[in-house]
Amino acid sequence: MSLEKIQILEAEITNYAITDKATLENFRLAYLKREIPALMGEIKNIAPELKKEYGQAVNALKGLAEEKFFSTQDALENVSEAGKTHTIDFTLPTIPHELGTLHPITLVKNRVVQIYERLGFTQADGPEIENDWHNFTALNFPPDHPAREMQDTFFLEKDPDIALRTHTSSVQVRYMQNHKPPMRAIMLGRVYRNEAISARAHCFFHQVEGLYIDEKVSMLDLKQTLYHFAKEMFGEGTTVRFRPSFFPFTEPSAELDISCGMHNPKGCSLCGGSQNICKGTGWVEIGGCGMVDPAVLENCGIDSEKYTGFAFGMGIERITMLKYQIKDLRLFSENDVRFLRQFV
Ligand code: DAH
Repeated sequence: MSLEKIQILEAEITNYAITDKATLENFRLAYLKREIPALMGEIKNIAPELKKEYGQAVNALKGLAEEKFFSTQDALENVSEAGKTHTIDFTLPTIPHELGTLHPITLVKNRVVQIYERLGFTQADGPEIENDWHNFTALNFPPDHPAREMQDTFFLEKDPDIALRTHTSSVQVRYMQNHKPPMRAIMLGRVYRNEAISARAHCFFHQVEGLYIDEKVSMLDLKQTLYHFAKEMFGEGTTVRFRPSFFPFTEPSAELDISCGMHNPKGCSLCGGSQNICKGTGWVEIGGCGMVDPAVLENCGIDSEKYTGFAFGMGIERITMLKYQIKDLRLFSENDVRFLRQFV
């Protein structure tokens, strides 16, 4: 009966020796063209209650024959002219998948966030396109302050003035308007200035702004915070210098210098060479800071009798140059993979 026939064919197919293209063709004609189609033709004559079992058996047989045919056909086609089959060498190294790396600016931004988050600072954000009030007026810039003029600011619209923000201090203003003291926040982002591009200046760069407002916040809190930041970012032995300075929105104001570890007029050990970023002084300025001017607090709706606060703004590129000894600011935006690959 037909099921027995199927079993016989199954054994035949399994044991059929295909050695070359001719035997392969014989196999195809015998089973795929003759025997199996004949078995399929039989289905209509099978008793209904056996049809299912029979049909499944024929299909399985067909699958077996096809599998043998196609896999042997593949193997025969892979026989090279010399008659050798290709083999897979499992000891060969795999083709490497190239992984991207984080941009050095991103690495430093992440580290900055990590350091300040541990001190309880939250992160805030603001727009890069800003109006005059948030970028200048609320921060106590007098109407004729040179920073408002065309050589520094990229204006997008005039009267009312809309510009690309020149610093992240504009986000400070927005944050104070929308939050109540006590507040402790950092704001990171891109800023724009109409400057000639060189190794030391660019028309866009990144800043991190910090703001801490509460009762009885003092210059001591500011110094300790920035001192802690410098040690975390650059290492224990880092020396920090606060230099008196002026900003319209802070009183008193200071600039923060980090020692680049040099005491050699030809160049420092950290930034190296004659084109060193410290200009041979041994100190690199990384940002400004100070106690928030009471007028700024009032402009933003904060009671300056009750609250005091400090603020700072640091250049991420400067920090990165110092940390990784990078001498040219333009490298950050050129996207040369030879440069970027070094920051794995
Ligand atoms: N906005 C200043 C700049 O771009 C940096 C700065 C100085 C920010 C003092 C501050 C600050 O918050 O208190 O040069």
